[in-house]
Amino acid sequence: MINIHSALPTWDLTNKRVLVRADLNVPLANGAIAHDYRLQSILPTIDLIQKNGGKVIIITHMGRPKKPTAELSTKNLIPWFEKKGYTITWTDNLNDAYNKSLEDQKSILLCENLRFFPGEKGGDATFAQSLARLGDYYVNDAFAAMHRGDTSITLVPTYFAPDKRTIGLLVEKEITTLDKLLTSSKKSFVLILGGGKVVEKLRLIENMLDKVQTILLCPAIVFTFLKALGKPVGKSLVDQTALTICANLMEQAQQKKVSLEFPIDYQIATDNINGPLSLVEADAFPANGIGISIGPKTVELFKEHINNAHTIFFNAAMGFGDRKETVEGTTALLHAVAESNAFSVVGGGDSVAATETLNIHDRIDYLSTGGGATLTYLSSQTLPGLVALDIIKKST
Ligand code: 3PG
Repeated sequence: MINIHSALPTWDLTNKRVLVRADLNVPLANGAIAHDYRLQSILPTIDLIQKNGGKVIIITHMGRPKKPTAELSTKNLIPWFEKKGYTITWTDNLNDAYNKSLEDQKSILLCENLRFFPGEKGGDATFAQSLARLGDYYVNDAFAAMHRGDTSITLVPTYFAPDKRTIGLLVEKEITTLDKLLTSSKKSFVLILGGGKVVEKLRLIENMLDKVQTILLCPAIVFTFLKALGKPVGKSLVDQTALTICANLMEQAQQKKVSLEFPIDYQIATDNINGPLSLVEADAFPANGIGISIGPKTVELFKEHINNAHTIFFNAAMGFGDRKETVEGTTALLHAVAESNAFSVVGGGDSVAATETLNIHDRIDYLSTGGGATLTYLSSQTLPGLVALDIIKKST
């Protein structure tokens, strides 16, 4: 656990330029923003810089482009900011960006998707310098990308003096909240895990075995555990490389008296993920079934654990948005989390998006903007982006 504070509130930024590394990697559907939670989350930092007299220069990545595309251009974000009353200047050229960074204090300068530039992934010093010269100060508020070694996260801050670089208000809030989870009482701490990113979640489980009482295992991560136990999983997603890790984790959980709860029934698709859906008992999993979500009996069982929890961390979005029946398990669990009296944190893009779709986001104590970053921080209490700012010494 670290005592983490942004230096931003103490800076006098009159006539200064502040380079803000944000994570505005939002889901887009035909150019329209499907969920704007990450955009909303950066506004307090932008507002504070402007209030303290500074000019905001935003750099962000979007998606994982192999080459520049219109769909992943940061141009798609301009209307959102304008609707909120901000003035935006946009550029896709870093020389032009330098000139524009010196103009019009009130207008936010938004640069093109960092991942359109090869240097962002290459740890390229020339690219880092051309970004660094856009600001007199550097603020990293890209919590969701701080587990990455990208140039803008790990190299650019090294071009700023220690008193001219810091984290933003979002990162401060994320770390403070996740630390609160990590220091919560083990008693009645329920971890609910599902979805993909199996390896990251196994690392999280390993770190959390001393901190939680119960882990509710959901599809898809649960199938690697079941496979390690020799149970039937049909054609469900299994990480074959992680079977031994799962076997060890189950042994450790038993020693540490952590209860690993498995579903008792599943929703499966037959033959392929688009195949017909049905419900099966856990011990009658058919050879051609693919586990998609939990069944109604499991929902009831898991709800009891949720109702008795004091602390909950949820990263367990199951199903596919375009097949409504497949998200019923996620919906039921999230409703139970929202209704519980526990201190609740939801992480992961799909899980957070589900709380917005269900309109229960206000009833969750904290929605983390991070997916992989949240899992990494909870697993290791460090992130490369924090190390680069000398906020944490050790590296992941
Ligand atoms: C995320 O969506 O988790 C972050 O924006 C990081 O994106 P990445 O996994 O493509 O690095």
